[in-house]
Amino acid sequence: MVSYKLIHPEDVHLTEGNRLDDDEDELMSQSEGASLLPRRLPCSVTTALLVIGCLLLLLCGGWLVGTMFWLHRPSNLLPHKHPPPASTKANTSEASSLFGEICALTPETWRFDCYPERGAVVTREMCEARNCCFIASETPPSGRNGIPWCFYPPDFPSYSVKSVNDTSLGQKATLVKDVKTYYPADIMTLELDVRYETDTRLRVRITDPSSSRYEVPISIPTVSKKAEHPDYTVELSRDRFGLIVRRISTGAVLLNTTVAPLLYADQFLQFSTSLPTEFIYGLGEHRSNFLHDVQWNTLTMWARDVPPMEKTNLYGVHPFYLAMEKEKNAHGFFLLNSNAMDVVLQPAPALTWRTIGGILDFYVFLGPEPGTVIEQYLDVIGRPAMPIYWALGYHLCRWGFNSSNSTWEVVKRMRNNGIPQDVQWNDIDYMDRVLDFTYDQTNFATLPAMVKDLHAHDQRYVMVIDAGISSVQTEGTYWPYDDGLKRGVFIKDTEGKTLIGKVWPGLTAYPDFSDNVTHEWWFENLKRFHDQVEFDGLWIDMNEPSNFVDGSTNGCPSNNLDNPPYTPGVLGGLLRAKTVCASAPQKQSTHYNLHSLYGLMEGEASANALRRILGKRPFVISRSTFPSQGMYTGHWLGDNRSQWQDLYTSIAGILTFNLLGIPLVGADICGFSEQPQEELCIRWTQLGAFYPFTRNHNAIDMKPQDPTAFSPLASTAMKKALLLRYSLFPLLYTLFHHAHAKGHTVARPLIFEFPKDTKTYKIDKQFLWGRSLLVTPVLEPAVDFVEGYFPEGLWYDYYTGDAINSTGEDIRLSAPLDKINLHLREGSIIPTQTPNLTLWVSSGQPLHMVSALSENGTACGDLFWDDGESLDTYENNQYAYIVFSVAQQTMTSQVLHNHLEATYITVQSASFYGVKEKPSKVQVNSKDVTFAYRSNKVLTVENLGLKLSQNFTISWN
Ligand code: NOJ
Repeated sequence: MVSYKLIHPEDVHLTEGNRLDDDEDELMSQSEGASLLPRRLPCSVTTALLVIGCLLLLLCGGWLVGTMFWLHRPSNLLPHKHPPPASTKANTSEASSLFGEICALTPETWRFDCYPERGAVVTREMCEARNCCFIASETPPSGRNGIPWCFYPPDFPSYSVKSVNDTSLGQKATLVKDVKTYYPADIMTLELDVRYETDTRLRVRITDPSSSRYEVPISIPTVSKKAEHPDYTVELSRDRFGLIVRRISTGAVLLNTTVAPLLYADQFLQFSTSLPTEFIYGLGEHRSNFLHDVQWNTLTMWARDVPPMEKTNLYGVHPFYLAMEKEKNAHGFFLLNSNAMDVVLQPAPALTWRTIGGILDFYVFLGPEPGTVIEQYLDVIGRPAMPIYWALGYHLCRWGFNSSNSTWEVVKRMRNNGIPQDVQWNDIDYMDRVLDFTYDQTNFATLPAMVKDLHAHDQRYVMVIDAGISSVQTEGTYWPYDDGLKRGVFIKDTEGKTLIGKVWPGLTAYPDFSDNVTHEWWFENLKRFHDQVEFDGLWIDMNEPSNFVDGSTNGCPSNNLDNPPYTPGVLGGLLRAKTVCASAPQKQSTHYNLHSLYGLMEGEASANALRRILGKRPFVISRSTFPSQGMYTGHWLGDNRSQWQDLYTSIAGILTFNLLGIPLVGADICGFSEQPQEELCIRWTQLGAFYPFTRNHNAIDMKPQDPTAFSPLASTAMKKALLLRYSLFPLLYTLFHHAHAKGHTVARPLIFEFPKDTKTYKIDKQFLWGRSLLVTPVLEPAVDFVEGYFPEGLWYDYYTGDAINSTGEDIRLSAPLDKINLHLREGSIIPTQTPNLTLWVSSGQPLHMVSALSENGTACGDLFWDDGESLDTYENNQYAYIVFSVAQQTMTSQVLHNHLEATYITVQSASFYGVKEKPSKVQVNSKDVTFAYRSNKVLTVENLGLKLSQNFTISWN
């Protein structure tokens, strides 16, 4: 049953003529739940309520009361008064003091910024010119962060709901406003479209019914039938428009936009919501802890090339958050908008979305588990691609390999040292004068031969391609530019001339990837280059797009796109900072709208080109990303530093991108800039062995930091970590299958598996692979131990099978320099494999199954297997899928889906952790076998030679 409550001011229609603020005796009241229907209260009652409300607030404080306050917010308890214009009528000072009192009633944490442009320097005059409350707090806000001095009064002009009509998916309503606010081109009439898309997914669109506005051009599901049993209700506040979305099962308020006015001007769209708790995750791309700080924290989104730092817009844009509720359910929220925006977190807790274009189009996902929230989000934006198998191997890169021979030398040293490596990369050094689609015929003369040698050793080659195309080569000598110009693929300026910026090769033009013509031209460039150098994958860099000059070599014109009325808190202060002019027209819209989609559109063009050239699953790693990106590319976290802090923050980055649908993510192992340090690099290689995408990358002029560049002790420790990763390939590959098929996370925060345990909510020094393998890396220097949190239950040391029976506690673990702590969660079975120097070799090795038994002796796990590289194997049924379980002292392997791929794999051995007593006999397929049992309760059987493609049992008693 759909619940949709209308809240309307009895029969009184608020027009300019009969506004209630003309009538001091009649006041509106609106509060939560059944009392959402407004009542008229005599002034004395209202005043009494106010006093009680005030006292309560003073006495209790805290978010609970704050929430109550706002759910029973004074907007409808108070006269609808605007501050009087300065120096007018006789009653001015009285009205002004009443207004002041009303303003003072707003608790600090619930003040919604009415002057985000100015931070600390907003004055009373400036603020009151906007009809907002001005209260200077003791601490001036720093930039956009801090208690705002200028904030909305409860009755700031907003929209009211005019008419509501049922639609096939929900309801549509007209929203009207009759007082203009302070940004130009206010849209006074809006259309609200509430769509009950599924039982766990609500979509809301607020558009301009009189003219169409830009909408994000990504493909999203269309729904034709209204959800029959939604898990949520939607309530509409009618006199002052607002939406309240509640979870039916608990009554939790997931969204309440009545806390601040809706603003909808052509270039300023804003709404706020209360948050059920301060536990908010997602909102990329930012450098921060995994759990966001809600203490006045503005996160700006606008794709930007800059080494990651806190409170700064970075390479990608992901307007999605996951929130935990008090009842330990999770929900998600996605604003489908690509314009520059601020997301303001404040301690109420509350959140404001402030964007400068497009429409308001958002989704609420009901979960209720964190993992199902992500599945529901990915149902909308698309699930990640299944990576080609070698994407999960070790990648080695650096900027500053000054020749193909020096690159090749490192590859050979890695082989000679027996260190696994699947992929060798080159940075811009390989190019001729840093021109895309060329290679330096002198220093990299042996590049094609090196690539052939890599292939002969089952290794792969990836090189960087930058977004900017040199525009100053002699005509007839550089096909990418000449031909691109002919086909009109480059972004132009407002005068119709090719927009010129500056990147590594000097002056450059920027392909417009919003045009299909550009995709074809991009494919042809890649194909022509592939005919010379048989690369296997692509690294697409500088695609925010990055520009060493602001806007263009001619600057940017003076117009409302390059200088909008409001500019979010972007680094550099202007939209053009280190990118191209916002006003530049592109095929699908202006750069103003499409800027943050550059990496997504280039990623799609690159992945599709690789599919056509290689006929295999494309491997593309992109620096700039947007929702849907995981369908085409992975991501690395950009230009980090060789510092311990960067080692730590990389975990939050990796976990966040797993929430954002890009599980193939890693940070530059050992750090990009600054000189490498041996101990840090060992610890980083250990942690990096558990990044879903594992690449060591280094900046130009830095000393080598590949595993062979250090002392024998260090390189042995690194080799050990990488062999460990390779041995876990069957598990990792299966996890990627679940990401692709169901939208699961690969590197997973503990909160996802233990949402009832609030101690996991902040954890970002540990994480899981899937549901079962807990990684506890060392993140600081000079220690041989590490502390980790173990949620309640049995955990087994992965290496020894020793059990920890945790009550939900921090445990100190031994962590000598050559060890990363790994623990298996009770109840899990994981497939592992004897590692080798490449995944091609090791993925053909026999399996070793590890079962970690729960207290009652059960466990389960699975394995997805295919040829590792063909396109769409899952979709085309060309795979094997096997489930494993243990119950009543019997392990059963059951082949649920069998395609040829699994026939050549055997299961050679199995270990069972937590077998309470020594068995008297062990049988495989009912035949007695020899076995070993250790005092730490580990049972092992070897030399099994079982075919993975056939069901089998291993039992003991
Ligand atoms: C910037 C990238 O972030 C970095 O990884 C790369 O090495 C340089 N560009 C040079 O291409």
